[in-house]
Formats: sequence, structure tokens, C-alpha cells
Amino acid sequence: MEKLVSMQDICKIYNPGENEVRALDHVSIDIYPGEFVAIIGQSGSGKSTLMNMIGCLDVPTSGTYILHGADVSKLSDDELSDIRNREIGFIFQGFNLIANLTAKENVELPLIYRGVPQKERHELSETALAKVGLEKRMTHRPSEMSGGQQQRVAIARAIAQAPPVILADEPTGNLDSASSKEILGVLKQLHSEGRTIILITHDNGIAAQAKRVIRIMDGKIVEDFQNSGETLKEEEKPKPAENRSEQELSQLFDDAAAVIGKENRPDAQPEKQPEVQETKEVEENGRE
Ligand SMILES: Nc1ncnc2c1ncn2[C@@H]1O[C@H](COP(=O)(O)OP(=O)(O)OP(=O)(O)O)[C@@H](O)[C@H]1O
Ligand SMILES: [Mg+2]
Repeated sequence: MEKLVSMQDICKIYNPGENEVRALDHVSIDIYPGEFVAIIGQSGSGKSTLMNMIGCLDVPTSGTYILHGADVSKLSDDELSDIRNREIGFIFQGFNLIANLTAKENVELPLIYRGVPQKERHELSETALAKVGLEKRMTHRPSEMSGGQQQRVAIARAIAQAPPVILADEPTGNLDSASSKEILGVLKQLHSEGRTIILITHDNGIAAQAKRVIRIMDGKIVEDFQNSGETLKEEEKPKPAENRSEQELSQLFDDAAAVIGKENRPDAQPEKQPEVQETKEVEENGRE
């Protein structure tokens, strides 16, 4: 299958020179059409930078990015915005809704920019709002809706023209757990319809819902594994425990706990670090 995203050695350096920030540090990832990927990392780890890069909203300092077979560095601005409009639905960190427009007008706005005729615009926006369960809120303004509903309007706006790829930056940030669940439900539905979903989050519980998890730390990919029980390609297989650091293992344990429910953890003691098996390295060093 043709790769959707193929990044090789991507670096993004802000303010090159003395105060430079290496927001992405030799990142290589491949993403195939139809995947549901969560990119997880702490604040400042480079998630939004990576999303901007994947979505062609920003250009790397170095490295190669092939999107659907096209070398992004060789495309003109017009070609890039064309790809963005045609292929990618963005759900940004924060909702980015326009306060004095109704839900339906917010969804229609990008369609106006794309020159979609009025009748089709109405149909597309109504269908998209119905899909996220907001058929009764079409004429409401953002201030008249809950946070979860506003986020769903932002999703409707992203999916109105059925883009094959949805890039979502913290779509459940600042939402309560019930609203987060609704939003995740919508994203899962879109995935089951065949869209590629790339979801950015700092939340292990949210990432655990995706099929594949890519962890980023200080601009580097530190982990990339499948959540599901599907057969994995050799390079996709999770690293064996003895090759993982204590911190990684603890993180994995938390991810698993988020899926099975914390109360079911065999050693449910929230403050205590989970017991980690001796690593090979420690054995070799002859400690204990
Ligand atoms: N325009 C910029 N100029 C300089 N530094 C920047 C710029 N944008 C981001 N950075 C820095 O790059 C690093 C990565 O930022 P990024 O926004 O990608 O983080 P993030 O993982 O999305 O964080 P958060 O979870 O808080 O949204 C941070 O250290 C940030 O301070
Ligand atoms: Mg961010």
C-alpha cells in the first residue's frame, strides 16, 4: 500500500543560533492510509510542530517529507494549499470557531473559501453537523453551546468535505470525560468509515483508544507501537521489556491500566511506582 506520510530525518529548529529550539530532532515516521494514530507527548515535546509539518502548515529545517508520493519541499505554495484543502481536515488545539457565526456558518466558512456553491455548502454542512449529533444546534452560536458541542462543530467543519485525513490537535483538551468520550466516538466512527486519523494528545487514556501510539519526547520519537492485537510487521513490534527503561515500562503500565481500568490493576496503589523487572543491563552490571 502506498504510504500516506513518509518522513525521513525531519528536523525543525526555531530561532537557529544561540537560543535555538530543536522542536523536532531527526523524526522519521511512516503512516499508511486508514491508520488511527495517536501522537502523545508532554507539553513542549513537539506535538503541534509535528502536526503542522504533517499538515503542510510549516516546513522542516531539514529532512524529507513525502505526502502521498509527493515531495512536499518541491511543491509550490499553491500546490500545498491545494493538498491541504483536498486531503486534510484540521481540528486545531482550541476550537477556532468564529463567535458571531452560527454552528452552520462556521462549518460553511472553509467551503466558501474553497468556492463550493451555496446549495452544496448547505448540504455538506448540514450533513456534517448531523454526523456529530448537532442537527438541533445548527443556528446556535458558539457562546450558546457547551465546550463539547463547540468541539463537535470544529470536527464538523473539518469533515464537511470528507477529507481522507483528519489531523486533530488535542481535540479533547479542556473537555470533561463525558464530552471527551463523545469526541472520541466521532473520531472512531470516522476511522471506521476509512479515514486516516492522526490524533495529538498528552493523555495516555486517550492515546490508548488509538490503534497505534507514537510517543514524542524533546522532539524525538521514543516509542511507536500498535495497541491492537493485530499481527505486526517486524519493525512495528513493541520492544521487549529488557530493552526498555524503567520510565518507559512505568508509562506502558499506565497505558495498559487506562485501558483495563485502574481499579483492576493487580497492584492498585496510585502513588507507588510499579515494580519493574530487572533489566538486562542492570544484571550485566552485577548490581543486587
Ligand atoms: N514559533 C516558535 N518559535 C520558537 N519556539 C517555538 C515555536 N513554536 C514552538 N516552539 C517551541 O518548540 C517546542 C515544541 O512546541 P510544540 O508547540 O510543538 O509543543 P507541544 O508538544 O504541542 O506542546 P503542548 O502540549 O503544550 O501543546 C517547545 O519547546 C516550544 O517552546
Ligand atoms: Mg501543542
